[in-house]
Amino acid sequence: MEGLIIQSVKLEDSRNVLVILDQSVLPETEKYLDLITVEDVWEAIYELKVRGAPAIGIAAAYGVYLAVKQENETDRDAFTKAFAKAKNYLASSRPTAVNLFWALERMEKRLHEAFADGLSVPEVKQQLKKEADKIRNEDEEVCKTIGEHALTLLKPGMGILTHCNAGTIATAKYGTALAPLYLGHQQDYQFKVFTDETRPLLQGARLTAWELQKAGIDVTLICDNMASIVMKENKIEAVLVGCDRVAANGDTANKIGTSSVAIMAKHYGIPFYVCAPISTIDLACETGENIEIEQRSLEEVTEKWYSERMAPKDVKVYNPAFDVTDHSLITAIVTEKGIAYPGYQESLHELFHK
Ligand code: MRU
Repeated sequence: MEGLIIQSVKLEDSRNVLVILDQSVLPETEKYLDLITVEDVWEAIYELKVRGAPAIGIAAAYGVYLAVKQENETDRDAFTKAFAKAKNYLASSRPTAVNLFWALERMEKRLHEAFADGLSVPEVKQQLKKEADKIRNEDEEVCKTIGEHALTLLKPGMGILTHCNAGTIATAKYGTALAPLYLGHQQDYQFKVFTDETRPLLQGARLTAWELQKAGIDVTLICDNMASIVMKENKIEAVLVGCDRVAANGDTANKIGTSSVAIMAKHYGIPFYVCAPISTIDLACETGENIEIEQRSLEEVTEKWYSERMAPKDVKVYNPAFDVTDHSLITAIVTEKGIAYPGYQESLHELFHK
């Protein structure tokens, strides 16, 4: 499938660069950027040039490796200090997707293990590269498995609604919520997919519509405020979304607008499925109340997409980038280890430790 060949994050170690697909200029421009410094990686994450929880984690893992690869320090303590500085800096790029912190913690753990095994600084650098590669490669496998599990919940010909972009470009490959659509497409399932445009940054219109269309999947774009009518017209039989963090009780943070879709799905009796790797489940977060919601610049709402302003100057704006869908609205949470059903406190805990 052509659409799945796109690699949104790729290390070119011989050139000392991380190459990313610039998701901020799609679909008009398909452009790849060379990220050289840790500041480049921070900015790319903050500016949503690389975005989607798993892809952010992968970029951060390579980012911290690139940062210390250039380090001349041969002393272990100084090298560890330089690593911690780069790690903390990258961790400040975006607050909501737990995969960012998960990947950075995993890199740090590898660093300490490697030093504990008596490896030298150059050897530790190699171990860090291997760990980042592993995070990337595992994500591809994980997403494929999520897709296989989620496909068991769907039937050929179904109308599916999705919000934001949880597709191949938001991950190493396949996506989370879009993975079953790609796998079903290979088996001629003929899904009819609807994507919300996803204001303010239009991930649904610019990215989901783009990648599904590229893959030859039947996709229809709707404005966010049209979700209710397509549900009422019986065009939607399941909702599939990705997520940025799942709390221990099943409350789920995802792109702003997701919780309204879940509320509508409940009203119309449509199953609402969240697809997420285990790395997105944060058992340390008791409920959605504990999830930090990113606030973004006001200009994203007032003037991002047109040369003229879309709102009066100096109007007050509120721009939370995510919302939390209450666990009571979620039919199931699909992970690579299986499907968790309500009673999430227990079912997620069980999957997490499987
Ligand atoms: O602000 P974004 O575009 O990074 O938000 C992304 C989402 O909300 C996705 O649904 C989520 O990260 C899952 S990606 C597999």
